[in-house]
Amino acid sequence: MPDPSAPRDAALAMDPDEFRELGHALVDHLGAFLEDLPRRRVAPGKAPAEVRSLLPAGGLPEEGADPAPLLLETLALLQDNLAFNGHPRFLAYITASPAPIGMLADFAVSALNPNCGLWQLTPLATEIELQTVRWLADFLGLPPGTGGVMSSGGQAANHVGLLLARRDKAPWDVRALGSTDGSGRRLRVYASTETHGWLNAAADLFGLGKEAVRWIPTTADGAMDVAALERAVADDAAAGDVPMAVVGTAGSVGTGAVDPLPAIGELCRQRNVWFHVDGAYGAPAVVLPDAPADLVGLRDADSVAVDPHKWLYAPIDAGCTLVRDPALLGATFGARPDYYAMGDGGDAPLNLYGVGPENSRRFRALKVWLALRQVGRRGYARMIGDDVALARRLHDQAAAHPELEARTLGLSIVTFRYVPADLAGAGAGVEAYLDRLNRELLARLVAAGELFVSNAVVAGTFLLRACVVNFRTTEADIDAVPGIVARAGAECDRALRPGGLGPDSDVPVA
Ligand SMILES: Cc1ncc(COP(=O)(O)O)c(C=O)c1O
Repeated sequence: MPDPSAPRDAALAMDPDEFRELGHALVDHLGAFLEDLPRRRVAPGKAPAEVRSLLPAGGLPEEGADPAPLLLETLALLQDNLAFNGHPRFLAYITASPAPIGMLADFAVSALNPNCGLWQLTPLATEIELQTVRWLADFLGLPPGTGGVMSSGGQAANHVGLLLARRDKAPWDVRALGSTDGSGRRLRVYASTETHGWLNAAADLFGLGKEAVRWIPTTADGAMDVAALERAVADDAAAGDVPMAVVGTAGSVGTGAVDPLPAIGELCRQRNVWFHVDGAYGAPAVVLPDAPADLVGLRDADSVAVDPHKWLYAPIDAGCTLVRDPALLGATFGARPDYYAMGDGGDAPLNLYGVGPENSRRFRALKVWLALRQVGRRGYARMIGDDVALARRLHDQAAAHPELEARTLGLSIVTFRYVPADLAGAGAGVEAYLDRLNRELLARLVAAGELFVSNAVVAGTFLLRACVVNFRTTEADIDAVPGIVARAGAECDRALRPGGLGPDSDVPVA
């Protein structure tokens, strides 16, 4: 007679001892990997076909396999075939080095698996998420009473901000009618031409239409031209459209430029327009004692998108929208389907599915909450300040290097390019060649695996871009950058014009 209370023979079940043994092996493996990381390639430099060939041959397995080799062999393969944003010489894109406490938190979250949509299922996890949101607001210096909701990242957090704006500023019931009331009046959004691509996606997804966005030009420093903004808002209002929201950027994705947020906030107040700040990258820099006034102006916003998986060093994913009037979250997303009949009950607990766009929700807050507790405001201020100082150091070194041209420095982003000595000051006639040369140079750097930078296009010029969002990067790593870039640049230049500027050269010189 089989024992009906014996553990079920389920294919995915794992004996507790086996779980412990495999878990220890996993942590040992990752510990060694992290220790070795600075000596490893920063990116694999392999072609897609080569990487694809590493996958198991054949179709979906019919039978299972032993989990220990499966897990450890896969881990070994992954560590040779990823680019590592935790590598000290990873300076590409705004995707940050993950904090160890966050790595461990995410593992624990997967084991505990709370579904943070319903308070009753996740009492302490929900409360931790709510406290994390309050702490993030406090970190940025937002007014008391600010609320918010966590999401998968900066794009999602900005989308939530725009949905709040639409709910609040559309003169009709958007939850019933959508983005138009059929009268021909259009909801309008204003943002600088340097705004991240999330806005185009949002305008498309939420039925505003991409043409609803007024792209406002920037001044020479890459920040929004407020005079142009004022004209655009006034013109639309005069034409009968509805100026719904202005998006100010606190740290642009290309160059780290900060829009003049105090002036934008003032205009929004006067015109009764929602003021949203995309602080996905730069908002945490407001904690610095010398934070520029333009950045501090994010405190006037109706909503701010912040991205803990960037400058707060949470492992991916973790985004958050902070909102001055938290009641708007429920007014925008609230729903009460019959199958969630548990109610809010008792002492004002909150079901987070009703304050954001997600239903089942990962417990993303834990890694952010633990990191905030581990290092506090002061620890973050020091890490962020150090990143900014390293970016300045790189900028100054590029400016002083005979074959590098420093272009911009914004928060912790530097742009620069390689210019062969014989082409320095050669004028517009060599620009097309320098663009081509720097594109090739970037590809060469990524393939070589010694340094990972990315690119920006500023005023039509292709530039290399280093983003220091990396608490593992040292002064020595930064000091190595000019030499690595100049060496690879000279190699590319020799390959592209073997005869220099001699008779074989195809480089037009004005
Ligand atoms: C300014 C800005 N906004 C939004 C985003 C999108 O954030 P995520 O990739 O976390 O969705 C980024 C990403 O780099 C960004 O730099």
